[in-house]
Amino acid sequence: MILPVYLYNHTILREKTQPVNQMNDETQQFISNMFETMTQAYGIGLAANQVGDKRSIIVVDITDPEDETPPQIPPTVFINPIIEKYSEDLIDYEEGCLSVPKFRDKVFRPDAVRVKYFDKNMNEQIIEAEGILARVLQHEIDHLNGIYFFDRLSAVRKTLAQGKLRKIMRGDIIPDYEYTLGNQ
Ligand code: NI
Repeated sequence: MILPVYLYNHTILREKTQPVNQMNDETQQFISNMFETMTQAYGIGLAANQVGDKRSIIVVDITDPEDETPPQIPPTVFINPIIEKYSEDLIDYEEGCLSVPKFRDKVFRPDAVRVKYFDKNMNEQIIEAEGILARVLQHEIDHLNGIYFFDRLSAVRKTLAQGKLRKIMRGDIIPDYEYTLGNQ
């Protein structure tokens, strides 16, 4: 089932999510819905609070059908993910977000991270991620903590982006996928 994506001005996107303690059928179904929602919106990552849920869950799909290089991982769910370690070198990369439609900007982040999480069977896992995977994980784990990628823009870039962000907040810029505007 495709879930509506909550946009920028929704308060749940500023709230911290809560850990998942155990897996059950409902959570399995929710995760499957998250994958379906991400895919139809052409996203490479999605956090549970982006679809209005308070659980600490993200899904990631960095597979690219047009790229012959195998991705670091197949589509994966990360439950209760925590970044344990960051690389020292920062790189900038253009990011976008399903909750901030039609806005992209360059964000500096560490190039590699070590993430501890639970898999779909609630077994603890550790992944050493770099490149695009490290980027997506940091972006989505930020969501679980109520942080948007534009919070991490440089001061100059943030100032330049103000007008566009205000338009998105007013609902003047809408996405092509199913969405829910702010708390009405
Ligand atoms: Ni996002």
